[in-house]
Amino acid sequence: KFAWIFFIFIFLNGCGSDSPSRVVNTQKENLTIVENQYYTLEPYLIDTSYDSFKWVQVCGVPVLNNQDENSLSIDFLAPESDKDQKYCFEFTGHKGNDTYVKSYDVTVVAPTVEVYIDHASLPTLQQLMHMVEEHDKDDTTKRFVSWERVKLSETAQDILNAKFFNIVNNNISTQFIDAIVNYAKNKNRVNVKLFSNTAVSITNLSPIIKALKSSANATISKINLYDDGSFEYMDLYSWKESDSKIELLDRDSILLKSYLDGESDVRPQAMSARYNWHRIYNVNYNFLRKDYLDVEPKLNDFREYLGDSLTQMQWDQFSKMPLYKQKLLLSIVGFDKAKLQSQYDSSSLPNFVFTGTTTWAGGETREFYAKQQVNVINNAINETSPYYLGRDYDLFFKGHPRGEDINDYIISSFEDITNIPASVSFELLLMTGMIPDKVAGVASSLYFTIPADNVDFIVFTSSEDITDREEALKSPLVQVMMKLNIVKEDNVLFWSDLPNCESGVCISH
Ligand code: C5P
Ligand code: MG
Repeated sequence: KFAWIFFIFIFLNGCGSDSPSRVVNTQKENLTIVENQYYTLEPYLIDTSYDSFKWVQVCGVPVLNNQDENSLSIDFLAPESDKDQKYCFEFTGHKGNDTYVKSYDVTVVAPTVEVYIDHASLPTLQQLMHMVEEHDKDDTTKRFVSWERVKLSETAQDILNAKFFNIVNNNISTQFIDAIVNYAKNKNRVNVKLFSNTAVSITNLSPIIKALKSSANATISKINLYDDGSFEYMDLYSWKESDSKIELLDRDSILLKSYLDGESDVRPQAMSARYNWHRIYNVNYNFLRKDYLDVEPKLNDFREYLGDSLTQMQWDQFSKMPLYKQKLLLSIVGFDKAKLQSQYDSSSLPNFVFTGTTTWAGGETREFYAKQQVNVINNAINETSPYYLGRDYDLFFKGHPRGEDINDYIISSFEDITNIPASVSFELLLMTGMIPDKVAGVASSLYFTIPADNVDFIVFTSSEDITDREEALKSPLVQVMMKLNIVKEDNVLFWSDLPNCESGVCISH
């Protein structure tokens, strides 16, 4: 310890305590600058009273001219190169007996382009959180965004240095790809970070990767993939039983590479289209519930296969953001937190939120789904049902973002129901500390995230013809949610398990 203190003493005194009249003062800065950006290299002090001073370049391709060497500060234009380059500069000034040294280690890197794609809800929310968090850290980063369920206004695009494109038929548009490629082409080189939904990553990313390969000097420096939701888990549930699954996945990594390189037209399918990206790129697979690969022994080998790329999705980033970023995010998703708070507080009763679902089917199935959900709500609020919540609550409805007419039907079926906009992802309530006293509803990805303590019951959809409980319990979604301890078997309900409350009294079948 003593030795360290002594050392610091020497350092502070520059040349050493034995010659106190000749002091060398030093400063050092490490910088990363993007190509073609200006940066002002400042002397030790911005002080014009030096007796003499000089700049020298001590590493890297020479860039200083005579005028630079004799200027007090230098406007350094980061040169283009085919790779990251280091430049070192040193200012030395003399004043009386004192010497002032300022050194810079500058690394010049390629500009970054970020590409965000999602047609669903959950990856969009995760991507938005990342974007808002990072947006003011490097103002040279250009963003291209294509989402279905959240749009960026002109103002938001300006703030985020982003250009927004609509999703067309669940896909990115050619305009979107062209805009990215044209931007990259106009740069000497770019680093590209890709953000996508995991489930459809190959559809989202391969056209962009291929186009960049053939026409621009682009390096894919990072790929961030986010679970679509429960979807990936149902597939993993079935896949875990298949023979030699890891060997086959491993073998197919070559297939993904040659497909992206344009050497083969054979597009990888199923798991190898989702989980081989890390064999080629620097990847994070952001899992909604990474622990599924722990608690399911037959997926432990898969966990090893993904290695460091396996990442747990985070939700607490939001509360750690400064207020202006929180506000920006909430305005983009259109969540009026203050309004919901006043609705929660408008009566002294505790608050119950019912979460609805949708179906991709049409016609009669939609009507069936709507009516079943009305019946679930009636069971929760009617004393004659065994699923009665046990006391009075203020009733809120949070419909599925794609519920549309199903949501309308449910809302119009109750007099005293407060609607939380369907487009607002339920996870936002968690992020903003707005989880209500009670939640119940239809099985959904949202139950993978929200605390089980607040959840009263979860009803699983079943078709009109599956009435056998044993059969219904075998569904992958039920199995996954039980394995993750989201629900216990006794609390797994199906539509057919619930009494019919249509008459005002709930009558068991
Ligand atoms: O229900 P599903 O699995 O399709 O949910 C996907 C996402 O949609 C959820 O993670 C959540 O963000 C959103 N959602 C919602 N409200 C619902 C159902 C889903 O906000 N009632
Ligand atoms: Mg209340």
